[in-house]
Amino acid sequence: MALTGRAVVVTGAATGIGRGIAESLLKAGAAVTAVGRREEPLRDLADRHGEAVTVVAADICAPGAPERVVAATTGAFGRLDAVVNNAGLARFGRLETIDPALFDAMFAVNVRAPADLIRCALPHLRARRGAVVNISSVGGALSMPGRSFYGATKAALNSLTRSLARELAPDVRVNAIMPGPVRTPMWSETGLDEAGMRHLRDDLLSATPMGRFGDEAEIGGWVCSLLDPELSGWVTGALIPVDGGRTA
Ligand SMILES: NC(=O)c1ccc[n+]([C@@H]2O[C@H](COP(=O)([O-])OP(=O)(O)OC[C@H]3O[C@@H](n4cnc5c(N)ncnc54)[C@H](OP(=O)(O)O)[C@@H]3O)[C@@H](O)[C@H]2O)c1
Repeated sequence: MALTGRAVVVTGAATGIGRGIAESLLKAGAAVTAVGRREEPLRDLADRHGEAVTVVAADICAPGAPERVVAATTGAFGRLDAVVNNAGLARFGRLETIDPALFDAMFAVNVRAPADLIRCALPHLRARRGAVVNISSVGGALSMPGRSFYGATKAALNSLTRSLARELAPDVRVNAIMPGPVRTPMWSETGLDEAGMRHLRDDLLSATPMGRFGDEAEIGGWVCSLLDPELSGWVTGALIPVDGGRTA
């Protein structure tokens, strides 16, 4: 129970990777503030874990949302030790065909909202010598033809991670995980048609030496390790690929 007594905010905690992260944190003894727009799947997490989970139904891009998340966390648990910026938006398409408005929409969720939440939580993170984990993507490090907007937002999140690691040291550690493909609800909402998805899936699998998609728990375990000061107290500014070897 390496994280007993720690209060951790997880955005996008209801589904996919965020759900896996929340479950791993709870197993490691942490209390979790579960954030997402839809309340029902968040409630399901709370129903199964009781007082260890508090729920905030909010669009993280909305004005006042970061303040609500921080207040709910300190109200429920009396502290805030860590933030996991996991909520993300992924829309794919080639430059000539993708809706240009999606650039701003993805930037708002994938980059601006994490920065706003870190800023808002900062007094508590500093007081607790806390930590941040940003869930980026291998797309932030690789070229992403057909997914350039998404890749650009994740590259920006990587840059934010490294800059804030220096800016906030030694009080607060800031790291990112870059997952390779993990089978989650995200894959049914990318904007690609069925043939495009099949093609992308085959491409991704053939480019992944381990020959399979990852599992949510395999990301959750790394988040727990990065938040554990015994294991990772000297790790900050790291961009860690957890990707079946895709970036090797
Ligand atoms: N799956 C992959 O292969 C993969 C690979 C690399 C990186 N990632 C990254 O991993 C993270 C999680 O993605 P996932 O695959 O687990 O997808 P997912 O299941 O679609 O999860 C995204 C979560 O974020 C929440 N969310 C989205 N926009 C939000 C907003 N504006 N405010 C609050 N919550 C919001 C969603 O809940 P609501 O809809 O209820 O708000 C949902 O629970 C993302 O950052 C993604 O870019 C995924």
